[in-house]
Amino acid sequence: MPAPVEIYEGAVDKGLEGVVACTTAVSSIIDATLCFRGYVIEDLAAKSTYEEVIYLLWNDKLPNKDELSAFRKELFSEMTLSPEVVKHLQGLPTKDVHPMAWLRSAVSALALWDKDSQKLDPASQKLIARRLTAKMGPLVTLFERTRKGLPFIQPNLEKSLAWNFLNMLFGKEPDAEIVRMFDVCLILHADHELNCSAFSARVTSSSMSDLYSAITSAIGTLKGPLHGGANEQVMLMLKKIGSMEGAVKFIEAALANKEKVMGFGHRVYKNGDPRAKILRKMSEEITKKTGEPHWYQMSALIDDTVQKEKGLLPNVDFYSATVYYSMKIPIDLFTPIFAVSRISGWLAHTFEQYANNRIYRPRGKWTGKQGLKI
Ligand code: COA
Repeated sequence: MPAPVEIYEGAVDKGLEGVVACTTAVSSIIDATLCFRGYVIEDLAAKSTYEEVIYLLWNDKLPNKDELSAFRKELFSEMTLSPEVVKHLQGLPTKDVHPMAWLRSAVSALALWDKDSQKLDPASQKLIARRLTAKMGPLVTLFERTRKGLPFIQPNLEKSLAWNFLNMLFGKEPDAEIVRMFDVCLILHADHELNCSAFSARVTSSSMSDLYSAITSAIGTLKGPLHGGANEQVMLMLKKIGSMEGAVKFIEAALANKEKVMGFGHRVYKNGDPRAKILRKMSEEITKKTGEPHWYQMSALIDDTVQKEKGLLPNVDFYSATVYYSMKIPIDLFTPIFAVSRISGWLAHTFEQYANNRIYRPRGKWTGKQGLKI
């Protein structure tokens, strides 16, 4: 047998843990502090709106009053879905279809109606970014209403993305307090340094492919239960446990079986995810408001148990589950909502990638057969 060629002697970074794959100025996680463009997440969640955060992520500065007003107008004008697009998307299957699979297909299909979709100059990037970001919420509501046999509701272009999402989903004006909570959820999920889906968007754009392709890749990546799909799994787990009584036993058994408890652990945060702290408070508040505090209490008990048994802390997906559930949002829409928000971060990453590109092309360490003859 011929001598093996190019056998890599170094260690393999499985899962690329600790590998620094690019420079970025979009968001940072330093000493367990999450910042978007230098602003800490706690401040953004308390004092800004999702639209301001999108502007910040895309422009590296918070907007002044006039900039925000112009940006909202431009962004909101892109929320409308044309009758042709609505008709086409209403024809896609929804029965036994996961909404993330539908959303991935819908976003990919939107490119076919966008004559600018292949353009990569900076102005076109921003235009396509506004189109995609504004349409994500409406697309998710179109899916939900189509599977329920209900007509699509067009957006109110004077209102925020958060207000419109809830209005278009439920077909009635949302409560102002719930709109603010939902807006904060969108802020908290907007970006997170080089997470799996942002990396996926960057890998796709590094071949100088278009923004629709990059976002379609990212949606497919977010879908998995180890990433964005965890929030849905958390709520399914809570429903399965059902009551406080069985919670500790359920978690102990899962850990003893080496199962992963969804909504816990993180590759980067080892001392707690700052977003989970904000969402924990929100979960307590909203479950009290809806008269179902047991969902929060059960979550808090599970939180204590996982910490005690395994030393793991909750991530963004753990308490967001009961927040969305209390808003009466269907459980399988939790991950699509993550995409409705995270698209702003994906786009900021693609802008950065296009501006300073080198194609991603790592190597694999060969462990297969060599020198076979036919
Ligand atoms: N439940 C139980 N054990 C967990 C766990 C969880 N949620 N997360 C990590 N662990 C354990 C692993 O089993 C492993 O234990 P071991 O050393 O005894 O084998 C150890 O902690 C390290 O975990 P690992 O899977 O190597 O961490 P990672 O950095 O590769 O993965 C996550 C990070 C987030 C994918 C992982 O924590 C996870 O799967 N969490 C659940 C899914 C989730 O909530 N995802 C959303 C992330 S925001």
